[in-house]
Order: sequence, then C-alpha cells, then structure tokens
Amino acid sequence: METVDLLVENANELVTLKGPNRPRRKDEMNHLSIIKNGCIAVKDGGIVDVGKNLKYKAKKIIDASNKTVLPGFVDPHTHLVFAGSREFELDMKLKGYSYMDILKRGGGIFYTVDKTRKAAMDELVSQSSLRLDRMLRYGTTSCEAKSGYGLDVESEIKILKVQEKLNKFHPVDIVSTFLGAHAIPKKISADKYVDMVIDEMMPQVKDLAVFCDVFCEEGVFTVEQSKKILEAGKKHDLMPKIHADEIVDTGGAGLAAEVGAISADHLLMSNTKGLKKMANNGVIGVMLPGTPFSLMMKNYADARKMIDIGVPVALATDLNPNCYVESMQFMIQMGCFNMHMTPAEAICAATLNAACAIGMNDKVGSLEKGKQADMTIMDCPNHLHIPYHFGVNLVETVIKKGKIV
Ligand code: NIG
Ligand code: FE
Repeated sequence: METVDLLVENANELVTLKGPNRPRRKDEMNHLSIIKNGCIAVKDGGIVDVGKNLKYKAKKIIDASNKTVLPGFVDPHTHLVFAGSREFELDMKLKGYSYMDILKRGGGIFYTVDKTRKAAMDELVSQSSLRLDRMLRYGTTSCEAKSGYGLDVESEIKILKVQEKLNKFHPVDIVSTFLGAHAIPKKISADKYVDMVIDEMMPQVKDLAVFCDVFCEEGVFTVEQSKKILEAGKKHDLMPKIHADEIVDTGGAGLAAEVGAISADHLLMSNTKGLKKMANNGVIGVMLPGTPFSLMMKNYADARKMIDIGVPVALATDLNPNCYVESMQFMIQMGCFNMHMTPAEAICAATLNAACAIGMNDKVGSLEKGKQADMTIMDCPNHLHIPYHFGVNLVETVIKKGKIV
C-alpha cells in the first residue's frame, strides 16, 4: 500500500468543486461535486487522490466525521498593506457622510496614504502579517493584494515589496496587483498623475505585480483615463483589473470587457449592457459585499442578475481600512442573505471562481488530483451551515500545501 503524508477521511461532505477548470457560470455554480464520506490523500504538498474509502498508509490521519471539508478560500480582492486604521470614520458614516464626502474632505484613502507613506517596510510587514494570520484562521489560503496607498513612485514600490516579502514567509499565497491609480494625490492634476503612473511607476513595478488595477469612478479616474492606464499596463504584461461602478455607473463594466480585464470588481451600479459585455468576454464579476455593508448602504451588487446574464461571479472581502474584514465566511453569508445567492453559488464564488479571478485556478480553488493541498475542515455537518450558522468562525483546521497551519 502506498504511503502518503496526510489522509483526511470520513468527511461528512467533501466539497471538491471537481469539474471544468475555468470560471463557472449560471447553474454550473450550483454543482459543487460533493462526496459524502469523502477522503483526500496528500503527498509533497499536493493532492494525490480524492474519493471514498481511500486505502493508503498515512503519516498522519485526520478524521473529519461530521465535518465539511472545502478548498481553502481564495480572496481575490484585498488592500492588504496599509498603515493605521480609520475607526473614527464610523461616526461620520453614522451622521450620513458618504464615502465620497469623506474622501473629498481629505479623509478616506488620503488619510491612509499619509500613514502608509510614513511607515517603514518592517512596520507594514508586521501589521499586514497579522491580517494574513486572521485570514488563515478564517479559512483563506490564497489572496490577491493591491498597492495603492503610496500614490508616489517610492511608496508604491515599497508596498509591492512588502507584499513580496510577506509572500515569501507567510503560508497564505499572495498575488500582487499594482493600483497606483487608486486616487489622485493632492497638488497634481489627474492627467499629470496618469502620466506619472504610466511613465514612472509602471516600468519600475512591472516585475513586482501580475495585475494592474484602477479606481474608475466619478470624481476619481474617468473611463478614458482608466483605459489609458490599463492599456499601458498590458504593454508591461500587467493584466487589467478594475474597480468599476462602485458608487456611480460610469461604464466601468463595459470598459472591463473592452480592455479584456480578468475581472471587474464592485459593480453595484453597473448597467445591463455593460454586464452583458462582461459575460460575452468572460470577465469575472468580483462582488465585495463588505463595502456596502461597511458604508451602511442599502443596495448590494445584483448577483442574481449577473448570474442569470452569464457573468461568472466571485466574492472577495475588499479588506481595507474602510471595510476592515478578513472573513470570506462573512462574504458567503452576505452573498446569501443580502444578495440572494444560493449557498452553493456563494461557495463556488469564494473558491474556484475566486481563484480564476486572480489566475490561480491551475493550483487552487478545487480539491482535485494535481492541485495544491489547500483546504479547510469546517466544524459543521454540511456546506449549508456556512451561510446558515453566521457570526462565528466555523473553521476547525486549515491545511496549506499539505501542512496544518
Ligand atoms: O475598493 N474604492 C476604492 N478603494 C477601496 C477603498 C479604499 C479605502 O477606502 O481606503 C475599495 O473600496
Ligand atoms: Fe478595493
């Protein structure tokens, strides 16, 4: 009998998401390929077998009776690296100030930029590492992380280098995105700043990031400026991503399709035409329900409409000082309760589709032979409990590359 490093057995539900290794759409999202009393065998950090009653000698056995085993969550949109916090903005939000009101008064992103520019690399590493620890405890084993609180050449590079460092020592895998175009710094015109992002920042960050993102929004970057940035990014092999239609519909969803973005994120206000273009071009819609929640808004992205149109959708935390959350379980809960996704759709959105949104689906996002052994053992009998039993952390054990972390 072959010996493996780890055998997880008797999982009441082993949620594999086995199937085509691409973003799932429409009813495909409801098919999680669950194995009752499932087993999974791990060797050298990878999955070697998945099924029922697997017969292996194992160096370690975990009995997952009455438990649910899932792929580790993938969080495809975070602003992981920042200094300071903005809890005082809660009071302003309660008084009715909007996100843009706070930003225009020099708060919001600008407050965090000031703190982040002043912070040393080591400080940023240690603060961000604590956030990664929390992610891991809540079942997230891979994430995307954006720069964007630097807004000058030196500070943007610093943030991306912090991410590079974190990726080397922390168990959570990080994919980096360059978001120099996160806001227009004071004392410089938008067009001048766009040129600086393209001419000065991009050539220096191109090897530190995989994606290029832009905050396309009324009062921030226009569709034209965003297009210019994303097209320039492509020339440096930075794949486009976009913060689109979060507060106002500026046509960001359509732009995402036009530039061939891997994902368009937020999409609260997107028009149907833009969403249809996304569906046709295979752009993943990343929904960030933590943002409207933390901004005390009533509306959420129209997940039902997106899924019906055929947009492959994913869920993410948007972890940032305005929306301070590391839990993908909470996103699944909001996906169901506030956006009327089925539990299966929300789980698919937080695993396989999320992995696709950051180009990691060759390694993670499902529990299949050949993929990385990234999984969570949840203290609940079936996957429906993940949205159903909310406000607690259901994660019992997290396994990253075959090791209990
Ligand atoms: O995705 N919208 C732009 N950026 C972030 C928020 C950043 C901040 O407020 O610090 C977002 O919501
Ligand atoms: Fe964001």
